[in-house]
Amino acid sequence: MCRSLAFVFCILLMVTPSFADDLFFEAGVQAILLDKCGKCHSAKSRKADLGLYDIRSVLRGGESGEVVVPEQLEESLLWEVIHNQQMPPKDQAQLTDQEKKVISDWIKHGAHSQQIPIASTAVPSYLDVERLVLNAWCSNDMVWENA
Ligand code: HEC
Repeated sequence: MCRSLAFVFCILLMVTPSFADDLFFEAGVQAILLDKCGKCHSAKSRKADLGLYDIRSVLRGGESGEVVVPEQLEESLLWEVIHNQQMPPKDQAQLTDQEKKVISDWIKHGAHSQQIPIASTAVPSYLDVERLVLNAWCSNDMVWENA
């Protein structure tokens, strides 16, 4: 019983039109930040005490505090410095319009990561809800079967 339900949910998960895969940090944003910001915001060279090499360092922020506020583009310093062309510094390779769009879309859609859930995204994603339901369902199943 549980298995067949699990199967149905798997199918559901596959067809669920949740946010596009490329809106994950790991899918595009990370590579851009490593390429264009990594020289100065790596684990070794943390200018302004800011690392931009993985999701944890990005969410941790820098000297001025948080640099990414999920869904709030205007509140995100990371976007502000890119948008105002403060970063990367003028003498460095600049971001293309496409790269800027990837980053702004990522923040706008909740700054999701495949590695860690973002606590400040108050509404659980559809995926999370499905997982909860599935877990509850299966554990109930076990109880019935054992009774
Ligand atoms: C050549 C080195 C260099 C590169 C490349 C670079 N930065 Fe910076 N960044 C700095 C320095 C130096 C500071 C601190 C002084 C300043 O604000 O100019 C800084 C500060 C910042 C701050 C402010 C942090 C805080 O908490 O105050 C942000 C945000 C930032 N950078 C984002 C970026 C992003 C995003 C990129 C890539 C698109 C990038 N930087 C690329 C050198 C760099």
